[in-house]
Amino acid sequence: METVLESEDVVEDIDAGTLNVRIKQIRYEGKGINSYELTSPTGKQLPPFDAGAHIDIHLKNGIIRQYSLCNCPAERHRYVIAVLKDENGRGGSRAVHEGLSAGDVVTISKPRNHFPLTLEARKAILIAGGIGVTPLKAMAHELEERGIDFEMHYCARSAEAAAFGPELDGMRRAGKLHYHFDNGAASNQLDIRKLLAQPTSGTHVYYCGPGGFMAACADAASHWPKGTVHFEHFKAPEQPKRAPAGTGHFGGCEVTIASTGQVIQLKPEQSLSDALNEAGVAVATSCCAGLCATCKVRYLGGEVEHNDFILSDEERQEYLTACVSRPTSKTLVLDL
Ligand code: FES
Repeated sequence: METVLESEDVVEDIDAGTLNVRIKQIRYEGKGINSYELTSPTGKQLPPFDAGAHIDIHLKNGIIRQYSLCNCPAERHRYVIAVLKDENGRGGSRAVHEGLSAGDVVTISKPRNHFPLTLEARKAILIAGGIGVTPLKAMAHELEERGIDFEMHYCARSAEAAAFGPELDGMRRAGKLHYHFDNGAASNQLDIRKLLAQPTSGTHVYYCGPGGFMAACADAASHWPKGTVHFEHFKAPEQPKRAPAGTGHFGGCEVTIASTGQVIQLKPEQSLSDALNEAGVAVATSCCAGLCATCKVRYLGGEVEHNDFILSDEERQEYLTACVSRPTSKTLVLDL
């Protein structure tokens, strides 16, 4: 446990949702992975967060990216994120690795959490694939703090590609953390189906990782009781091919803003968030990929093809994500 600052002051917001933090330390954590320790420039406490939360980080050229907080949520003096440099990505991780230096002040959002722990559970099984370890590491810290039983499985290409080795060594030695390396012994590969074969009352499962890993976990956990399996994508998975704009149901839509009666014409090729913002109805966006729920809006009428990776089936009855959801009806009413 790190020391908590004595000051009760919390770092000031620039506006309702963002704050400035200083990069206190950048540390090599594993092959291609750096961690970034963010602290208040004035030594104040940071807003609290729960395990599974992420922040937006505002990078040069207007790029905004989401990264999970991976330190213990009991810590109020710092946030820690870890970033895998993806040479073939959209440029966010390169901007972090190549553009940020210790001492820089960066703007971030307050933490938001779409991947919370169920603290009433008796046990948690945490399954991490690659850099998907970050939210699960925060969960492991929180479970340890609260004395809730857990086991964590960390799959990585190799020992060199696994992050946080020294920091997690206590958990490994305690038998809580199990590594599974692609280049390791066959007997040490994780058999996810076997791990999740038997749902146990009071046990919840959490997983995060790349696309194939997510699909394998979803398949292995498909028979677990509703509400006991939780996951977060860190990258939008491949989508089944969608009907092109302007075809079938997607020929455009009349969108009504419930509070004002304003009617906005959504063009077939436009995203709902773009149409709303162009019409002067501000809807905040961040990932623009259906991953973060920043653009979540309640709808009161109409039919929607959701296309997000964050809302539950229950939430989708009531909410859509304006960046990727498409109306399939001719009219849509938004609770804005
Ligand atoms: S902006 Fe992230 S889900 Fe829409």
